[in-house]
Amino acid sequence: MISQKANNTYKERKRTLRNLILYFTGTGNSLMAAKTIANYLGDTELLHFSKVDDYRTKKPIDVLGLVFPVYWNGLPHIVLNSISRLKALNPTYIFSIVTHAGGPGHVLSHLQVELQKNRLELNAGICLEMPSNYILGYNAPSESSIQYDLTNADKILQKFAETIKSAKEYRPRSDFPPFSGTTSSYQQFIATVNESDANFWVDENCTECGLCAIICPVQNIELETGRPTWHHRCEQCLACINWCPEGSIQYNAQTAERGRYVNPRISVEEMRNKL
Ligand SMILES: Cc1cc2nc3c(=O)[nH]c(=O)nc-3n(C[C@H](O)[C@H](O)[C@H](O)COP(=O)(O)O)c2cc1C
Repeated sequence: MISQKANNTYKERKRTLRNLILYFTGTGNSLMAAKTIANYLGDTELLHFSKVDDYRTKKPIDVLGLVFPVYWNGLPHIVLNSISRLKALNPTYIFSIVTHAGGPGHVLSHLQVELQKNRLELNAGICLEMPSNYILGYNAPSESSIQYDLTNADKILQKFAETIKSAKEYRPRSDFPPFSGTTSSYQQFIATVNESDANFWVDENCTECGLCAIICPVQNIELETGRPTWHHRCEQCLACINWCPEGSIQYNAQTAERGRYVNPRISVEEMRNKL
């Protein structure tokens, strides 16, 4: 079915309107998905979720993409807090790609509910399996499983780009299981996420390079006498711990023996220069 609001052809609409993808990422999976879709659509601006408040455009938005990782089966705190700003963008068509590590739960239904509270509709969405960055709970993924996930993701993204271009509605039940409210673990996560950075610490291998402070998407890290200190605005995206070139950032006692994960197709420069 073609979205009624978006029933012109993609090429016709592109002449007067623009596409915007809002993304959030800690370790690059969601940025990879956002960039891939932007390339397929052409003429698409990428903007970090942290910049949505200051975003101004004279051209109306045609396609609005929301691309981010699932956290505890739900929306990251920063995404949840940004939904109320999206109405002002007045998009014709909204799609979402939620990257996950095998258990997305009802995240897209959660997003749909939050959008509807703000009189917006999610026209199309997919949950995209990607390598896990959750080294607080598990070991980092192996090289072969990373390559397997990324190759698979390429195929899914190519297909989904066609769905978006033809402004089709796409909400398969498998990606949109019924939503009966957020879980208690999610509520606990949202309530404590900002302060959770009290569990980060830095070991003796820190070279004081400052990369952690530069790539933190919410400017939560400052260097004091060269070493990182966290200021309780944490989103728990795990960028700092995973991108540290020395592996010297730790979380409680559970990460010292674990590897680290970052998306191999995203460079540190792209993480530095939040688009
Ligand atoms: C705080 C946190 C919670 C997570 N919760 C889930 C989850 O509930 N289900 C899941 O499949 N993956 C979960 N993950 C894994 C990420 O969603 C997944 O690796 C994602 O692709 C990372 O995206 P990014 O590289 O764009 O940050 C979680 C990761 C973090 C950091």
